[in-house]
Amino acid sequence: MNPESVTNATISGSSHAAADRVRIFDTTLRDGEQAPGFSMDRRAKLRMAHMLEALGVDIIEAGFPQASPDDFAAVAEIATSLKTPTICALARCQAGDIDSAGHALERARHSRIHLFLSTSPLHREHKLNMSKAQVIDTAVAAIERARKLCHEVEFSAEDAMRTEPDFLAEVFSAAVAAGATTLNAPDTVGYMTPAEIAERFTWLQQHVQGADQVIFSSHCHDDLGMAVANSLAAVSAGARQVECTINGIGERAGNASLEEIVMALKVRAPHFGVDTRIDTRKLYPASRLLTQLTGQAMPRNKAIVGDNAFAHESGIHQHGMLKHRGTYEIMRPQDVGIAETKLVMGKHSGRAALRQRLETLGHTPNDAALDAIFVRFKTLADKKREVHDEDLEAIALGLDPDAVGPWRLVQLNTSTHLGGSASASVKLRHDDGREAGEAAIGDGPVDAVLRAIERATGSDLQLTDFQVRAVSEGGDAQGQAQLTARHAAREWRGHGISTDIVEATAQAALAIVNRIERQAPAALPVAVANL
Ligand code: KIV
Ligand code: ZN
Repeated sequence: MNPESVTNATISGSSHAAADRVRIFDTTLRDGEQAPGFSMDRRAKLRMAHMLEALGVDIIEAGFPQASPDDFAAVAEIATSLKTPTICALARCQAGDIDSAGHALERARHSRIHLFLSTSPLHREHKLNMSKAQVIDTAVAAIERARKLCHEVEFSAEDAMRTEPDFLAEVFSAAVAAGATTLNAPDTVGYMTPAEIAERFTWLQQHVQGADQVIFSSHCHDDLGMAVANSLAAVSAGARQVECTINGIGERAGNASLEEIVMALKVRAPHFGVDTRIDTRKLYPASRLLTQLTGQAMPRNKAIVGDNAFAHESGIHQHGMLKHRGTYEIMRPQDVGIAETKLVMGKHSGRAALRQRLETLGHTPNDAALDAIFVRFKTLADKKREVHDEDLEAIALGLDPDAVGPWRLVQLNTSTHLGGSASASVKLRHDDGREAGEAAIGDGPVDAVLRAIERATGSDLQLTDFQVRAVSEGGDAQGQAQLTARHAAREWRGHGISTDIVEATAQAALAIVNRIERQAPAALPVAVANL
């Protein structure tokens, strides 16, 4: 790294002509990953980093190299493999941290060291035991050291929002003079309101010496649920970098959520007058990947990426959506990478949505038939939270969607073997008196059971989704298995409940086999089968 190349002109991908572009600084792999329940190993971090690159984030904070050898290795690996974004490493204002951040970033095409030091009275007194002058001297020395080791230096005044504004401006002015190119003013404890944040950013830009040579950045935590609103307020007041995370993960209540900020800036573009380089169609895939890598699911009602973000159940809303999607949606699901709006069929749904759903399933009942189907649908919807396509199809075909059988589980044995493989044997009984027993080997007990059931019933299922969750608490908790499989170019769903999750899986698989058999032409009432 040639220190001569370190100038204010090297601010990540910026020129001041691009004043209307907000840089997205993603800290999922640092602030997000350090929160309880969200840790990721090196391989997971590298996968996520590639996803963030595809998403188009400007800066990826890849980790805190001094925290552990694994963090160091993850930052170095990400710095080596990624091409487009600036790779950033966090460091305290200490020589050891700075040198290890610089070392981890050596192979990055664009590198940034992110230095942080507390500035608020509370932190100065109780955490650092430093005077104001010592804080400034420490920050300046650290920036000067870091400049020699990377392309650009960001300085964060930790707990900036609870710092005396005059002192904050003094620290930031010294940071600019020492060579920092990004000034980050975090709301470390999520204390501020949007109006206060906007006022502080405006004030800082008027009072920091050299403010016009640097980028101001926000970093808001969500302790009072205002992280996104605060970040947007900072942007309105001139911040041109926002620090955020996928799914809003981060310390305590989390950080500002990247997908919410980006979509707010896009959907309300005329209001904010700025844009980002994010490919918004990758937001949902990025969110899903993170939930898979961390094992932490999103609440259904999470903005932008939650299961309900583009789902409608109420009859009034569904009716509106069928007439004009703008009635209840302010963005298209495709814009965030979700295939389509979902009209969920449940007890709140109305006739219009039912007719439309039946039509997509290939049924065109006349008004009288629709009335009859509607009555049966409502009865079922009162019992079930969601009525799936296969239930509707059963009703439309005059079958009982609640029926069990014809296949029932009589016996199930599984054993797992060291090294991963497993075997299962099942004995099934059909309502017509037949019995079938089969055994199979699989990649685990669930796989082995599915294969044994397929063989015993002669079905051909391609598993597309498998979820298990506890539905009660304690050592004898009931587990629910939910399976989705493809058969004859259609998706079929089945679920089973048991204290043993392998048995729950077997029940779920049998539920699918039974639905398929019940809806086969030979099983249909004669009038329907002859249609
Ligand atoms: O919340 C915070 O203040 C931080 C700094 C390290 C930027 O995460
Ligand atoms: Zn933070």
